[in-house]
Amino acid sequence: MFGLFKKKKTPPTFAPLYTDMHCHLLPLVDDGSKSLEESLDVMEVMKEVGFEEIRLTPHYQYPRFPNKEDDIEERYKNFCEEVERNKGERSLPLLKGVTGEYRIDDGFHEHIERGRLLTYRFADPKRGSAKGLLLMELSLHQPVMGFEEVIFERQMEGYDIILAHPERYPYFNVHSDRLEQMKEQGVYFQANILSLDGFYGEEARKKAFDYIENGWIEFLGTDMHNVMYAQALRHAAGNRKIQQLLEKEEFENKNLVSKD
Ligand SMILES: [Fe+2]
Repeated sequence: MFGLFKKKKTPPTFAPLYTDMHCHLLPLVDDGSKSLEESLDVMEVMKEVGFEEIRLTPHYQYPRFPNKEDDIEERYKNFCEEVERNKGERSLPLLKGVTGEYRIDDGFHEHIERGRLLTYRFADPKRGSAKGLLLMELSLHQPVMGFEEVIFERQMEGYDIILAHPERYPYFNVHSDRLEQMKEQGVYFQANILSLDGFYGEEARKKAFDYIENGWIEFLGTDMHNVMYAQALRHAAGNRKIQQLLEKEEFENKNLVSKD
């Protein structure tokens, strides 16, 4: 057991969000959790900071994580059974489905051709497009040529798009015209909770608060990968500025459901 899991009272700061919709806790499919035990440890912290439900979002990223949807769904089913068998006396959030974090890269077209992208839906059936909400990310280093077109084409096909962590792309500035244009085109944005606590550096922290201030951020995600992230999530839960933000702002996390 990790030292960070020793008893210490952590405030349930993220209870108003209810659901986390971005985390990498399906073991051994990407750069997230490396074992069932690690996933359980992280989930325990997520419950402690206020999350009642979590939705898993493994990376689909070429060539690093060439995951396929059918395989991910099968692994998710097995993971749920293993969690159920091993949870013991632990207090854990409920597992509420698996979708994915799709990177716009050279392999993305294969997912489109297979025609089985894993998406969320809004709980309210009157909201959202026919094919659901697709969580997408961009390169963390440089803008991929034509990424706006890839996003807008998906919208034309009937998907809603959630852009993951816009504050983490160093090539967008605080007042980015390209991000503003995406908002005008109806793209949803999801900021990382750990960005707000400075986990990815001061620039990402500032951008995350500024984008929320702009009214650009509909969702907050933990982007949990492992126990080191869980330790950072606990730290974020104690951040007064984040606590005040959660008391004041409404986010859409609890309005999502998984497709099936
Ligand atoms: Fe992620």
